[in-house]
Amino acid sequence: MLGVLAVPLGLIAFFVVFCLLILLGVTWYKSSKAEIPPGIANPKFLWRLHTFFTGVLILGKALEKSRILNSSGLMTFLSKILTPKLKDDPEIFKKDLQFDGVPVRVYQPRSPSVGGRKGVMFFHGGGFAYGSIDYYDSLCVHLAKNSEAVVVSVGYRLAPEHRCPAAFDDCLKATVHFLKTAQEHGVDPSSVIICGDSAGGNLTAGVCQCLVGIADIPKPLAQVMIYPLLQMADFNTPSYQQNKMVPLVFQDDVINIVLIYIGADLSLSKEILKGSHVCPEIREKLSKWWSSEEFQVKDYKLHIMAPFNKGVYEKVKKSLELACSPLFSDDAVIRQLPKAYILTCEFDVLRDDGILYKKCLEDNGVPVTWFHVKDGFHGIANYFDQPEVVSAKLAVDNVITYIKNL
Ligand SMILES: *[C@@H]1O[C@H](CO)[C@@H](O)[C@H](O)[C@H]1NC(C)=O
Repeated sequence: MLGVLAVPLGLIAFFVVFCLLILLGVTWYKSSKAEIPPGIANPKFLWRLHTFFTGVLILGKALEKSRILNSSGLMTFLSKILTPKLKDDPEIFKKDLQFDGVPVRVYQPRSPSVGGRKGVMFFHGGGFAYGSIDYYDSLCVHLAKNSEAVVVSVGYRLAPEHRCPAAFDDCLKATVHFLKTAQEHGVDPSSVIICGDSAGGNLTAGVCQCLVGIADIPKPLAQVMIYPLLQMADFNTPSYQQNKMVPLVFQDDVINIVLIYIGADLSLSKEILKGSHVCPEIREKLSKWWSSEEFQVKDYKLHIMAPFNKGVYEKVKKSLELACSPLFSDDAVIRQLPKAYILTCEFDVLRDDGILYKKCLEDNGVPVTWFHVKDGFHGIANYFDQPEVVSAKLAVDNVITYIKNL
């Protein structure tokens, strides 16, 4: 009896070990392509993190390919593995609510307060496809506790199931609802700050811009953008060139993120990288910016875009729509935007998106507080509670100080 079982068990064990070895090999190969530049915060930590993410993604993709998981099963699997355990904090009271149909978690400090508090609308990052209220729970607790503000984290709908502008619509709806009902949460309606990291920074900028045109509700006090993704035209900015293979986000990751978000075909990525989707109007704006003083970066080679291709443009124009892209929109709108805080990281492809927006706001008289993390990488704020990543906590503390002093 046992002898009969032993053969298949041995085979299965062999097969499992074989698959694991392949997984390790592919992970090793893929993550070894990453570049970890000298001067970046905690290279060992970053390397481990990057290898871990790469491995999890490869495993997920393999499970999907072998039909063990479908695509929504894959997302559940990934978020189960990646989301840390939720912790309660005695100083913060959490409530899960719906704001105009959009799921939110409200973080309310328990300490007594004189008068209305500040409120922070928080839009999480994750390339419009990942991230969740739970994933950002500890960061939001930390934010609420240390800034003494009521934080509202928004569980907007994610790509690829929900394409652009689903995420944006949800963030806008939840924000309008909060601005109208702030007092019910002990918040002074004129002290609401909009805040987000990465893709959430894109949503922050977009929501603030849209609010300019909505009458009869209080205006936000400020917009806080942490390494925001703000333009889909030029993927060869100095920071894209410098950091194209630096974890946690590579140059081609951003292009894919945008294509998935707008529901366009991933095979367009080569054309997008070359810039053939960029219409003459936007080219002109870009070339003016790149020739300005802020961008005379060492070793930067101006990238000559491929000729304009209307066919490609038509397929991705959602990502360049003037109506919602503050960088390319009317100065008259930009002038009315709330004051801004922008955090950028040196070793981040999106660094120049932030610097460009800073310039664009300042040129229009909007005050900007800029914090540059000299050894920072994209996504660093998520590691604020890892003692070995000193700059992560410093970055988040800087955001908190800005909010406190508003
Ligand atoms: C955010 O991303 C979308 C999709 O790529 C784009 O259409 C929009 O202009 C971006 N918004 C901002 C504020 O950059």
